[in-house]
Amino acid sequence: MHGVNKKNGELYLDDTSLSDLAISFGTPSYVYSASLIKDNFLEYKDSMRINDKVCFAVKSNSNIAVLKLLNSLGSGFDVVSGNELKRCLVAGADPKNIVFSGVGKTKEEIKLAVESDIFSINIESESELERIIKIVEEAGRKVNCAIRVNPDISAESHPYITTGLKTSKFGVTSQVALTMSKRIQEIENVNLIGLACHIGSQITKLELILDSLDHLTELANEINKESNNIEFIDIGGGLGITYRDEDSANAKDIMTKVLDRIKDLNFDLVVEPGRSITGNAGVLLSQVEYIKETEATNFAIVDAGMNDLIRPSLYSAWHKVSAVRDLEVLEKKYEIVGPVCESADSLAKDRALKIEEGSVIAIHDVGAYGNAMASNYNTRLRPPEIMVDGSDVQIIKRRETFEELISFEDIDHEN
Ligand code: LLP
Repeated sequence: MHGVNKKNGELYLDDTSLSDLAISFGTPSYVYSASLIKDNFLEYKDSMRINDKVCFAVKSNSNIAVLKLLNSLGSGFDVVSGNELKRCLVAGADPKNIVFSGVGKTKEEIKLAVESDIFSINIESESELERIIKIVEEAGRKVNCAIRVNPDISAESHPYITTGLKTSKFGVTSQVALTMSKRIQEIENVNLIGLACHIGSQITKLELILDSLDHLTELANEINKESNNIEFIDIGGGLGITYRDEDSANAKDIMTKVLDRIKDLNFDLVVEPGRSITGNAGVLLSQVEYIKETEATNFAIVDAGMNDLIRPSLYSAWHKVSAVRDLEVLEKKYEIVGPVCESADSLAKDRALKIEEGSVIAIHDVGAYGNAMASNYNTRLRPPEIMVDGSDVQIIKRRETFEELISFEDIDHEN
């Protein structure tokens, strides 16, 4: 069994008991199923053609062991910072499988991308293009790039994760892209080989992805009439998963529809999925420290907080919560809260659970944007990450220590 499953009243990830993991590694801890990450990736990869690329969105889960696993399966990578690019290189990725998106690339980040000879820099503004031109001319190197187009299509998900509207900071309009393509034609060292977009995340309506695809292919055909240089279309990531009861399409269905739509066109396809590869493959284990019953609410105060998993506080995201072992105690409705000194530090509301102080709970579907967004707020140590594959268990990031945390500071400071 790949992913979370229940046997004899006990929750497992693959064939590994979550209670056992909590005992071995302590809580809070992130645990990922390598086999489910692999299944999710192959849904994409197996439905695509030989020159198409699946570029995993590193921001969703940037653990080097996860990147190595995906690299071994033939994944490319979508990075949004120089340090994410460096992570991929450490993981052994071929730079020719890396795309670099992001509205604020610094000179150093662009230099790194140019020197690493990556597949494509996805340019997000005219100023960025001018910066790239200057850098390649100074360095006497060539670069391949794509223009990120903003198709003005809503992802129809949470406003914080909708990125393809004209009011958003991402990409440029088709008109600006046309102007940029003309400018690039004048520059020998910059090749425009692609058009990209990413309209947002947790998309459940497939037509939105197809609409943005049409937008890009139309523009690519127009650009190619003049200069004939667009080779690939990058439709970004964004495919939603089922956290609660959302309809989530599987990757194979959407890829089949996308490829069918471009079958008569001569473009390679690039996709940048994050959530739909690692999201459902991760759980966060946490222990109930206290049960606090008040007139209004039963609180289960647990040892994971908004610093470990910010999605519920930041996006009002709903994550399933289960006890890792069935207990013979009365079922009650709880609000699951963390120890952080903020009222927003609430992980889940109104959950019927059979738990007591000392119980271990699993917060589901946190393999994407879970640990990747964790912080040290309240001087809390970020949790370890563990990878299971069947019954094989590996620690892929150890828990931080207090000494490490303060080592960046001037501890001998004198006034
Ligand atoms: N490509 C680009 C250019 C992106 O900005 C993103 C995500 C992706 C690909 C991957 O999207 P995915 O397949 O994972 O939906 N922290 C938020 C999600 C932010 C997404 C940012 N961009 C959350 O926890 O829901």
